[in-house]
Amino acid sequence: MSGDTKRLRAVVKGVGSALPNRCVTNKELEETVDTSDEWIVQRTGIRQRYIAGEGETTSTLGIRAAQAALDRAGLTPDDIDLIVCATSTPDYTFPSTATMIQAGLGCTHGVAFDVQAVCAGFVFAVSTAEKFLVSGSHKRALVIGAETFSRILDWQDRTTCVLFGDGAGAMVLEAEEQSVAAAGGNLPRGVLATCLRSDGRHRAKLYVDGGPSTTKTVGFLRMEGKEVFRFAVGQVTDVMAETFASAGITAEDLDWFVPHQANRRIIDASAQKFGIPTEKVVLTVQDHGNTSAASIPLALSVACGDGRIKPGDLVMIEAIGGGFTWGAAVLRW
Ligand code: ACO
Repeated sequence: MSGDTKRLRAVVKGVGSALPNRCVTNKELEETVDTSDEWIVQRTGIRQRYIAGEGETTSTLGIRAAQAALDRAGLTPDDIDLIVCATSTPDYTFPSTATMIQAGLGCTHGVAFDVQAVCAGFVFAVSTAEKFLVSGSHKRALVIGAETFSRILDWQDRTTCVLFGDGAGAMVLEAEEQSVAAAGGNLPRGVLATCLRSDGRHRAKLYVDGGPSTTKTVGFLRMEGKEVFRFAVGQVTDVMAETFASAGITAEDLDWFVPHQANRRIIDASAQKFGIPTEKVVLTVQDHGNTSAASIPLALSVACGDGRIKPGDLVMIEAIGGGFTWGAAVLRW
């Protein structure tokens, strides 16, 4: 008897990303709104962001990111039977952006749907896809975060318009048998733990002031920045602690910390609370701004592309978004 107990895990096979063609620097924003490069960099760490142009939408960015992730994984759309897209800026109220990406990829089987948890959307989407895969009902998933927040920004409001950008990132997850206790005491590969939370009482601190059933318009993003900041650091670190405990690891075991890229100061405070050194933190907020549900898969794609994240590495992702919604996950690459 081998005694080698196995179970299905959702294992990462590839990641990819896509950005709009147009890059907008802080200096360029100074021409249209009463702000300065110095203020934006000091308060947020953001130096530039990408803004979708005509013909670039959440689904077109999502399709490009998904195709890049499939290429990295050496797979084709036919290999995918589950597409979960996290977005708060869908092309249309319906159909879902996930089904538009499915059609755009030329994928004609399986199931595709959106999840909406604003900036925490990618963590919610990973957790959702993982449950499908470990149940055995589906074999390979594309998990996508795609956004065009530029289309819900009030470009006269300097307190919000300087913070966000557009983009998409995607990850291929595959259901794979992994030893429960891998040889040599190593942790198995795949998603090891996820923890999700929400508290709808905080709606007024971060919301969009329009929608089909209320104003019959799309609306604009509204935010009480200080309140979001305060809540973000407190709650995100709680959920990180729970996720570490559930995965049976500590912050010292991490190879990479890949947080939602909203604000450099929130990221630094969260990392410091667990003693995670700066060298282990993947930072892209300076280049992309806050791309909401796309920010984590964009950052993962950068860190995999430049060789930082390698097979076997322990990675934590975490995010907080409007609602509030928040969550974290630990994956072994
Ligand atoms: N340029 C110049 N000055 C500005 C700008 C700007 N773009 N925006 C605000 N100011 C001014 C304010 O008017 C204020 O001036 P006053 O003192 O004369 O009234 C001053 O700067 C300070 O403003 P605060 O809001 O107090 O600045 P703060 O240090 O809190 O930074 C910020 C603001 C960056 C928004 C910060 O609160 C933050 O990052 N909060 C978290 C936001 C966040 O992460 N949101 C995303 C959540 S994820 C999601 O689901 C979408």
